[in-house]
Amino acid sequence: MKTYRIAVLRGDGIGPEIVNEAVKVLEKTAAVCGFEVTLTPALLGGAAIDETGVPLPEETIAVCKASDAVLLGAVGGPQWDSQPGSNRPEKGLLGIRKALGLYANLRPAVIFGPLRAASPLKSEIIGGDLDLLVVRELTGGIYFGERSTGTENGERFAWDTERYAEHEIRRIVQTAFEMAEKRRGRLTSVDKANVLDTSRLWRSIVDEMAKDHPTVMVNHMYVDNCAMQLVRNPGQFDVIVTSNLFGDILSDEASMISGSIGMLASASLGDSGFGLYEPIHGSAPDIAGQNKANPLATILSVAMLLRYSLNEAAAADRIEQAVAKALAQARTADIYTEGCGAKLVTCTEMGDIVTALIE
Ligand code: IPM
Ligand code: MG
Repeated sequence: MKTYRIAVLRGDGIGPEIVNEAVKVLEKTAAVCGFEVTLTPALLGGAAIDETGVPLPEETIAVCKASDAVLLGAVGGPQWDSQPGSNRPEKGLLGIRKALGLYANLRPAVIFGPLRAASPLKSEIIGGDLDLLVVRELTGGIYFGERSTGTENGERFAWDTERYAEHEIRRIVQTAFEMAEKRRGRLTSVDKANVLDTSRLWRSIVDEMAKDHPTVMVNHMYVDNCAMQLVRNPGQFDVIVTSNLFGDILSDEASMISGSIGMLASASLGDSGFGLYEPIHGSAPDIAGQNKANPLATILSVAMLLRYSLNEAAAADRIEQAVAKALAQARTADIYTEGCGAKLVTCTEMGDIVTALIE
């Protein structure tokens, strides 16, 4: 029987709770679809700081590298706020993306039919089905540029730098073209080319590469305009490709349009299909340990893991179908509304319901 090795990084806050439910679903799916998974836990973020003193132990990188894919919960929490910038839980997340070469971050924002009323946008603005994909560059740009702080003329200063090399832009734009070709054939490249040199380089590379992808309709948009267009007419977007920082900001905005950040999954991919999969939402320390969190984004991250890293598309479909069915009967508190026709359930109950619906 085919066996896949999955590294499991539960992380902090609600991370362990939601990952446990996702693992239940993964194991049931494997049994139904006829493959095996071996799960190896490893530490990341605050949990790793508490245990080892650092947010990204070498051991964790080794476990991930020895696996076919990585499943991650979430990292961070107020108890580590006093850590110096170089040793915060978030540093572990940035470090693992870099160490594993995961330069392409795919963040789909979709509206799940039964949850349409949860969107803060008016129905006529949403239009038909919302289904857009933010492709965010993940291992370069201002996140990883040189930075410094100091004192000059009696006052404090700080600086961060944005730097992109051509190959870093080419590979993420290539991923975005491939995604657009598989979807509705539209690609919006988002930059700030009226101000930044990195953006002007980005834009010229997109134009060069467009010639090799004649079936994709490409347009450029300034990031400020894109932030506005996302709430004015989100239906105009299919695939958005952008830098690390702009993608961080726009993907939060896009996820909110869907009304249910607790539902959205993400994939971070390198070359060769290896990837790390995690919900878009954070570690939600305010509800940690209360069995209230919505495990569906993590469960849907497992579906992405099966599709992109393990080539088990049929298994991924089963999970997505089970989630759709589960929503008709049950909702966690974040997506529950009075009169929605579904019953209010806990994190573990939701995991059990989805698991039972995998067939
Ligand atoms: C994200 C998060 C991270 C980022 C933080 C936690 C460092 O906001 O994954 O979007 O900025 O990349
Ligand atoms: Mg973010």
